[in-house]
Order: sequence, then structure tokens, then C-alpha cells
Amino acid sequence: MRLQLATWQEVEAYLQRSTGIIIPIGSTEQHGPNGLIGTDAICPEAIAWTLGERHDVLIGPTQNLGMAQHHLAFPGSISLRPSTLMAVLKDTVESLARHGFTHVFFLNGHGGNIATVSTAFAEILSERSLSGGSQSGQSKDALQLSLYSWFTGRRGREIAKELYGDAEGGHATPSEVSLSWAAHPEAVKDATMSPHIAPGGSAQCDAVTFRQRFPDGRMGSAPSLACVEHGQRFLEAGVEDVLEAYRAFLQ
Ligand code: NI
Repeated sequence: MRLQLATWQEVEAYLQRSTGIIIPIGSTEQHGPNGLIGTDAICPEAIAWTLGERHDVLIGPTQNLGMAQHHLAFPGSISLRPSTLMAVLKDTVESLARHGFTHVFFLNGHGGNIATVSTAFAEILSERSLSGGSQSGQSKDALQLSLYSWFTGRRGREIAKELYGDAEGGHATPSEVSLSWAAHPEAVKDATMSPHIAPGGSAQCDAVTFRQRFPDGRMGSAPSLACVEHGQRFLEAGVEDVLEAYRAFLQ
């Protein structure tokens, strides 16, 4: 069930069955010559929506904007500062906690979010700990937060290794481009890329330096290998990987 398509009565009834929720979180940033700017949000969203159709799991609204400052020299990229993203996450989590949600699982599609989301979790939990939250001392009352990046899932990684080997790379990867195309086949792009596999390197830099290092936006990847059929495999693998991680988180 998707929160955006539910009524408040349906959410109230869901909370009688479960106090867990999955929230896709991504980024709006360039993904090379054939990757969609929404890739990092579209991928976790596609996995979460499919999972939510097959299982009784509530899927929250996608956090489409992430921490993507290093991509800002490419048109279309939009970034939140770490402090802004942390504030958005805090208000999102506290809104849900107010209704009785205890397990908030962020399904992430962007490596650049990980440090900021982890710090946001530490801030949220620190505030509760320092104010004496969960005063009953019962762990079932305590807020649990999880960050899981779909591209780290075992099944998905095995498929990426089988299909692409070293051409998977680190950004604008053929696996994420494939998955985004499976979700939006109407937006498949055709582009010529040279070299076939882009140069690798560090993304710990500002936007101008990033564009100098990675002129077409790719990092170590060959997304010309991407296709919708591959994306359907990543979608199925992703649903299984995420379901396993989410169930473990709820226990
Ligand atoms: Ni990406």
C-alpha cells in the first residue's frame, strides 16, 4: 500500500497490523549520457512500489531530493545541503513517530546520501536519548531507523557482476540505468559514449572539480550496456533483497 494513495483511515487500520514503513530516498542528479536525472529516486521507488503491491507493507512518499552537491555543474541536478536533508528527514521521521510508527526503513538509491542520512539518524536518536525518550524502558516503544541501499543487495550485486563485471562502475552504472528504464521504458535513451568504460576516481570534491574529472558524468561505468530486460531482473532481485532486509529489521 502506498501512503500517497491511502486514506487516513487505511493508515490507522494498517497501524493495528504493523508499525513499520518503507520510505524510498534518492536524488535528482545527472546520470551520464543515457541515465535519467531521476535514476536514484526511481530505482528504490520501483522496488518499494512493487514490494508494496505484493506484501502488506506501507510505502511512504519518495524523498526525491538528496545530497548531490558534486553533480551541480551538470544542468538539471538539484541538491539539498546536508543540513537541509537532515532537517527534512528529522521532520519526516518525527511525523511518522507521532502516529505510532516505530520502524522507519529508508530504501536508498544514492551513495552520496549515506553519510548525511546516518548523521540524521544519530541526531534524531540523540534527541530522544538526551530527553529521556522511551521512558518505559521497553525496547518495543523505541524508535528504530534503518538505511538500506538497494544496490548493496546480495541478489542484485550477483546479477551486476554476471552481466557487467568491472563495467558496473560507481555512478551512472548499467544496473541502475537498467532498473530505471524497466520502471520507465518510455524514457529509454540512446547515446554514444567514449570511452566505453568511463574513468574512475573519487567524488569527494566540489561540482567544478567533479565535472573536470568525469566529463560526461559517468564514474567508472559503461551504461551503454543497460537495457530494460536487465532492469526487470534487478527489480525482481531488489524486491527479494529488500523484503529480506526489511523483515530482519522488523524483528
Ligand atoms: Ni545513481
